[in-house]
Amino acid sequence: MIVPREIRPVNASEEWLSHVPQLVDDLCDEWHLSVDDEQVRGGAWGIVIACHTEDGHEAVLKLCANHERLRAEANALMAWERGPAIRVFDYRPGALLLERARPGSPQRLAPSQLGMLLNALHRSARASLTGLGDWRASINAGISQVPSLHGLGRELLRRGEGRPVAALHGDLQPANVLRHRGASVVIDPLGIVGPREFDVAMAGLYNNWGEDSSSRITRLAKLTGTDATLALAFGQFSAMYAALARRT
Ligand SMILES: Nc1ncnc2c1ncn2[C@@H]1O[C@H](COP(=O)(O)OP(=O)(O)O)[C@@H](O)[C@H]1O
Ligand SMILES: [Mg+2]
Repeated sequence: MIVPREIRPVNASEEWLSHVPQLVDDLCDEWHLSVDDEQVRGGAWGIVIACHTEDGHEAVLKLCANHERLRAEANALMAWERGPAIRVFDYRPGALLLERARPGSPQRLAPSQLGMLLNALHRSARASLTGLGDWRASINAGISQVPSLHGLGRELLRRGEGRPVAALHGDLQPANVLRHRGASVVIDPLGIVGPREFDVAMAGLYNNWGEDSSSRITRLAKLTGTDATLALAFGQFSAMYAALARRT
């Protein structure tokens, strides 16, 4: 009853899906949760279920078929525990229990607000950035999927090497920035460590406030004190990947 067929995550297997009802029962026992009578959401890799904790807190349970991805997501949110990120209540491989954002509406931030959010995220992470992915692995994965990006990717790897790194979100689109108690908090990070320009580029590409994408990235680079040329190169790589990967 938990997982109607329509919400099947795009990348999850039938086999994973068939274990979800049992997994939800086990987690409700282990974490003392009661599932709310609300529609379950399905995304790329997992599902999100509204629930309550034993002491009455509103929460969401995120189950993910890709354990590595969810581990990096959980670690990034925990690294930002003092920053503008949703609170993690609990985690185990394949399952993440989060505080529920209220009202939880997606945020279309103005450039200056987005710049402040990026600054706050990048500054708030704990000194140790363990359990997160590596930006170089993301670039290499892009190159192996779209070989025509080889030259651009190699150039990015060379130019990004040695730049100061931070815990990056990697997917700062409006749906992943929620209104919570009068502030904006992030959910759903990719959880990678890399140069800040990577996040500046993603945020510029995914938040369209009316300028062209290069102007958006350049403006965000200025607001965050990052290198606009490197951010534009990340943006170019990512935009080309998005266009070309669909055809491969
Ligand atoms: N902590 C939360 N509080 C409120 N809503 C949430 C929370 N986490 C997820 N959601 C809702 O579920 C949707 C999908 O969750 P998300 O973690 O972004 O999964 P996906 O990886 O599928 O994009 C979000 O866009 C949001 O509407
Ligand atoms: Mg999301």
